[in-house]
Amino acid sequence: MENIQNRVNELHALLNQYSYEYYVQDNPSVPDSEYDKLLRELIDIEEAHPEYKTNDSPTVRVGGEAQSSFEKVDHDTPMLSLGNAFNEAELRRFDERIHDHTDNVEYMCELKIDGLAVSLKYVDGRFVQGLTRGNGTTGEDITENLRTIHAIPLKIKEPLNFEVRGEAYMPRSSFMALNEEKEKNEEQPFANPRNGAAGSLRQLDPKLAAKRKLSVFLYSVNDFTDFDATTQSGALDELDRLGFKTNQERERVKDIEGVLKYIEKWTEQREQLPYDIDGIVIKVNDLDQQDEIGYTQKSPRWAIAYKFPAEEVVTTLQDIELSIGRTGVVTPTAILEPVRVAGTTVSRASLHNEDLIRERDIRIGDSVVVKKAGDIIPEVVRSVIERRPDDTRPYHMPTHCPSCGHELVRIEGEVALRCINPKCQAQLVEGLIHFVSRQAMNIDGLGTKIIQQLYYNHVIKDVADIFYLTEDDLLPLERMGAKKVENLLTAIQASKANSLEHLLFGLGIRHLGVKASRVLAEKYETMDRLLEVTEEELVSIHDIGDKLAQSVVTYLENEDIQALIEKLKTKNVNMVYNGVKTSEIEGHPDFQDKTIVLTGKLQQMTRKEASAWLEMQGANVTSSVTKSTDLVIVGEDAGSKLTKAEKFGTEVWTEEQFITKKDEISN
Ligand code: IVH
Repeated sequence: MENIQNRVNELHALLNQYSYEYYVQDNPSVPDSEYDKLLRELIDIEEAHPEYKTNDSPTVRVGGEAQSSFEKVDHDTPMLSLGNAFNEAELRRFDERIHDHTDNVEYMCELKIDGLAVSLKYVDGRFVQGLTRGNGTTGEDITENLRTIHAIPLKIKEPLNFEVRGEAYMPRSSFMALNEEKEKNEEQPFANPRNGAAGSLRQLDPKLAAKRKLSVFLYSVNDFTDFDATTQSGALDELDRLGFKTNQERERVKDIEGVLKYIEKWTEQREQLPYDIDGIVIKVNDLDQQDEIGYTQKSPRWAIAYKFPAEEVVTTLQDIELSIGRTGVVTPTAILEPVRVAGTTVSRASLHNEDLIRERDIRIGDSVVVKKAGDIIPEVVRSVIERRPDDTRPYHMPTHCPSCGHELVRIEGEVALRCINPKCQAQLVEGLIHFVSRQAMNIDGLGTKIIQQLYYNHVIKDVADIFYLTEDDLLPLERMGAKKVENLLTAIQASKANSLEHLLFGLGIRHLGVKASRVLAEKYETMDRLLEVTEEELVSIHDIGDKLAQSVVTYLENEDIQALIEKLKTKNVNMVYNGVKTSEIEGHPDFQDKTIVLTGKLQQMTRKEASAWLEMQGANVTSSVTKSTDLVIVGEDAGSKLTKAEKFGTEVWTEEQFITKKDEISN
């Protein structure tokens, strides 16, 4: 037995050493096959003698058992965020504020890694718990996923007790490989490596997380009692010595001029890094000085994050494509010569509407400046007039629908052009796609491509036809096998039992959103009662306005619609509210039924967009902070609402925290 224990110890030591050389030092001393061989030996021993398996064994790198959820855990000390600077003037002001406290100051400049903040706890030198930042006070326990990251040491050189914090990230190479695979499997690729990292760490199955090849850079120590350092640079050197991975591009500089040089250097060289950065973090180096300068509610006063401006690139506008939405709105999309912007290749960008194209005088053939709003959604900023070819002409939207040829109209007060032909094929297809979408009938596997094929091959012409589909209809479709057909038919069958609000929303009645569908279903309980309802009755309901009431009644009075409802009934599609309480209906558990207030100026999206998204997740977005407010999301220059939230002890998130959460959910 002692022999086995000795061999296990030996294998642990060797495997940890090889992981360290490969993933932390980037300098392997043995070929991969040697690592794999020793790991195999250890797995075999642990299988034969489970009593030798410990949770700091290198075999945990392959991922343990799947979990059903992540536990919420309070941080020992809050994980703060950083104030931002967007230009030289703001950096100089930061420097002046620092000099108000102390003369002689040295700064540490570090790359701001674009990933996900994590906190790692070590007890007796062993990694015991890893948390996400969460809202700063409470994070989620993602220990099992973090154990799969080779750059995180499971055991360090000395039996110390402390917490280290840093950024988990997805190297660009892992990101490209992952997206290639996703595309092959016809899955939605991740928009950028940060989303990739967030999505991976939120996997409930650590075996999947293990495949994602994440890494980490540690940048701070939470508790210095056990730690021999008087400066930030000393602390990072000490982390290096203990076996942690820190970023080696850091530099100590004497003054703000040094900071500006460092920023200039990395603004130019950031694309050459094998990982994404979104800025530079500047920290007062001396720990005593840091203490003296202190903290605000949210962030240290002794540090600041310089954020890179959104990257802009120039490419050619090859064409403007028009798409017709479910409600007939015609949206122009820029078809671009593919170009890399902020980490992904962009070949399309919405141009929103005709006014925008005219105001910016954007023409087909132009060289155009493209950037990503909030680093996510590609946008055409302007044309480069100096490079305009001679033969371009101002762009005009067509007068007739590109799909059905019906004349387009501009409804008063709206910027959008609309096709008002109720038989327009493009609209009908969009309506079918809407019907099967998640918030509507939620028919898994029935994607856009399948719907298009079914419609244009005349297999289905309205939403009810979906319930008449048979194996023979589906099998001949592209990329369709027997198993897929079976799953699809099961999903269609299952959707028939959905509560009434799903069907109501799915029908695509103008102005009727998820929330109002639920209100109507809860109130009237059956489709039959809804069919008899009058406009007067509807407007008396809280939440239902004139426009919506009129739209619902007109829709349900239509004979074609009544025939459609009969056709659905024949196939036993449920037309009854199934009694599920509002609180149990879809949406995201983190937001469902939460009362949320948005305040201050958001950088990455408008308050309206944020609010619409939150409502989709089941939240109630209100305008004033009261005792019953669950969460306040703050942008820049938040005023009295933030003060109130602090008074009531309401949970407060920064925009960044909100976006991170949103990205996690949307992926
Ligand atoms: S120091 C008190 N250093 O940027 C906060 N943060 O709001 C200490 N980040 O999500 C943060 N690289 O995870 C620091 N070298 C670095 C960083 C860094 C990335 C992230 C951090 C947080 C955000 C700052």
